[in-house]
Amino acid sequence: MARDYQMKTTLITGASSGIGEAFARRLARDGWNVLLVARTESKLEMLCSELGRASDINAQYVALDLTDTDAPAKLFEETKARGLEVEMLINNAGFGSMGDFLQLDLERELEMVDLNIKALVALTYLFLGPMRERGRGSIINVASTAGFQPVPYMTTYAATKAFVLSFSDALWEENRAYGVSVMALCPGGHQLFRGLGDGAPADARLADAGAGRGHRAQRLEARARPHHLRLDELLTDGIRKARPALARRARRGQSFTTR
Ligand SMILES: NC(=O)c1ccc[n+]([C@@H]2O[C@H](COP(=O)([O-])OP(=O)(O)OC[C@H]3O[C@@H](n4cnc5c(N)ncnc54)[C@H](OP(=O)(O)O)[C@@H]3O)[C@@H](O)[C@H]2O)c1
Repeated sequence: MARDYQMKTTLITGASSGIGEAFARRLARDGWNVLLVARTESKLEMLCSELGRASDINAQYVALDLTDTDAPAKLFEETKARGLEVEMLINNAGFGSMGDFLQLDLERELEMVDLNIKALVALTYLFLGPMRERGRGSIINVASTAGFQPVPYMTTYAATKAFVLSFSDALWEENRAYGVSVMALCPGGHQLFRGLGDGAPADARLADAGAGRGHRAQRLEARARPHHLRLDELLTDGIRKARPALARRARRGQSFTTR
């Protein structure tokens, strides 16, 4: 069945695993062409050929490290060179760390700021212009429930996600008159995406959350704050309950990434 978004392209960063991969699978199934970005070429290549075989869509990738200063501009130029119109941008690539701030590796913390904030701002800036010219488009910035409050022992991570929320809120207001929708997606907990939630596969749960499905997304937005996409109100609770445990782990000097 023809759909209005058929043959349009979604650019998904961090698409080689986790939430980004779930987005890619779901959107490809719905008829979107996808342009997948991450560092690991082998994973991207495999996923693109699988998606291309399974759905009648065009799946392409660009392997690149988004913490490289010129990576966002290179990616933007590459989409132009390939003649792709990016109708939806999903800024998903990101990672976290946990522990006493002073015991964490400074280079890694700065790399987190570069990926979670700097690359996201640059890509938003670059792709927003053409969307506004066309009078349509969507940007989904992946934040976290960790962004709703300061989180000791996940200090930098939570602060980067608070930035993403604030940035997306303001851009939502600035751009809605141009027909461009900017949203923050706030996943709550690792388990949700690792098969320990309600038993449904990750991409099904993302679909339930409204990823790429405007009408459902809008219902969720209305239920939460007007322009935040929150997967489930309960997840905020989950984070609160998880915090003492996180703090205990942090005191033992453990660290984590979202992987
Ligand atoms: N999972 C959760 O419970 C959860 C909760 C709240 C928020 N989030 C947020 O959701 C997003 C995705 O999380 P996830 O758990 O799905 O992560 P994940 O499974 O670790 O996937 C991260 C993705 O980002 C890519 N990536 C990492 N560093 C990169 C770089 N420098 N340049 C380009 N790509 C890079 C990775 O691929 P390569 O390694 O191949 O580059 C991978 O595709 C993140 O922003 C995270 O903060 C996750």
